[in-house]
Amino acid sequence: MRRSLSGIQPSGKLHIGNYFGAVRQYIALQEECDAFYFIADYHAMTTVTNPDEMAANCHDVAAGLVALGLDPEKATLFRQSDVPEVAELTWLLSVVTPVGLMERCHAYKDKVAQGTVASMGLFGYPILMAADILIYDSNVVPVGQDQKQHLEVTRDIAGSFNFQYDSEVFILPEPYILPDVAVVPGLDGRKMSKSYGNVIEIFGDAKETEKRIKRMKTDSTPVEEPKDPDTCSVFALFRLMASADEREEMAKRYREGGVGYGDVKKRIVELFFETFCEARERRQELESNPEMLREIYAEGGRRARAKAREVLERAREAAGIGRGL
Ligand code: ADP
Ligand code: TRP
Repeated sequence: MRRSLSGIQPSGKLHIGNYFGAVRQYIALQEECDAFYFIADYHAMTTVTNPDEMAANCHDVAAGLVALGLDPEKATLFRQSDVPEVAELTWLLSVVTPVGLMERCHAYKDKVAQGTVASMGLFGYPILMAADILIYDSNVVPVGQDQKQHLEVTRDIAGSFNFQYDSEVFILPEPYILPDVAVVPGLDGRKMSKSYGNVIEIFGDAKETEKRIKRMKTDSTPVEEPKDPDTCSVFALFRLMASADEREEMAKRYREGGVGYGDVKKRIVELFFETFCEARERRQELESNPEMLREIYAEGGRRARAKAREVLERAREAAGIGRGL
C-alpha cells in the first residue's frame, strides 16, 4: 500500500488555509493509503522559542486534527520528536546536500526577511523535512503550494544520497497539491498564514470569527458594477465552502453586477459555521479527555519509530556507518 505522509508545525492555531490546502487531503488519503501524519515540533523550534507555548501548541494542533476527522484507527498520528532517528538521518542527508541547494530555498529568505533569526536550523530546515519524508518510505506528500519547493529539494537530496552510495535506499516522493486550493488567500488578500495575522481560525471564538470575516479587505467597486470572481479573494474564500451550484450562481451574479461584498461575507460566515460546526463540537469534547490524545500519540510514535529505524538502518549500512569495528 502506498504511504502518504505530512507534517504540520505547532506554531499557532489551525486555520482554514491549513484545512483546505492540506488537512482535508490528509483525511481523504487516510482511506486509500497507509497514512502517517505528525506534529513538526523540531521544525517549529525555528520560530517558537517559549517552551510552554510549544507544549500548548502541540496539544492544540493534535486535538484539532483529530476533531477535523483524522482517524487514529486509520492513520498513524505522532509527534516528530518522538522519532529522534529523524535527527540522525538529517545529518546523513546534510553531507550530500550542496549549500547552493539550500540557498535557493524561498522559505528561508522569506522568514529572515520577516524577522526570524537566521539560524542554521532555519537554513537547514529543508534537510530535516527531507529526512521526515524519506525515513518513512513515503510515496505521496499532501501539502499546500508553499511547500512544493521543499518537495523538489527532498527528491534532489534523496537522489544525491542514492547516487553517492550507489544504492536505492530512498524512495522519491511525489507532492500531492490540489490546484484549486493550493493557495488559500487570507483576510488581507495575501496567502493566509499564521505569520501574517490574516487567518480565519477553525476553532476560534465564534463572535470574533464573524467580525474578522466581515472586516475582510475589499476594493471599492460599487455594488452594481460587474466584478471578476477569478481575482476576488472574497469569492475565493466563498468558493471553498459553497456547493458547486451555489458557486456557479454566485460567479454569474459577480459578472453581471449587483452583488455587494457585504452579502458575500455574510454567506461566508454561514458557510464557515456549517462546514466546521461538527469539528468545533468534537474539539470541545476532546478538551475534556487529554488522556485519549496522549494515548493516540504514544501509539502513533511507537509505530512510526519502528518504520524509521528500519529505513535509517538501510541508510547507515549504505554509508558504511556502524560497520568495521
Ligand atoms: P502557516 O503558513 O500558517 O504557518 P503551516 O506552515 O503550518 O502554515 O502549513 C501547514 C500546511 O498547511 C502546509 O502543508 C501548508 O502548505 C498548508 N497551508 C498553509 N497555509 C496555506 C494556504 N494559505 N493555502 C493553502 N495551503 C496552506
Ligand atoms: N515544512 C512544513 C510546513 O511548514 C511542515 C513539514 C515538516 C512537513 N516536515 C514535513 C510537511 C514533511 C510535509 C512533509 O508546513
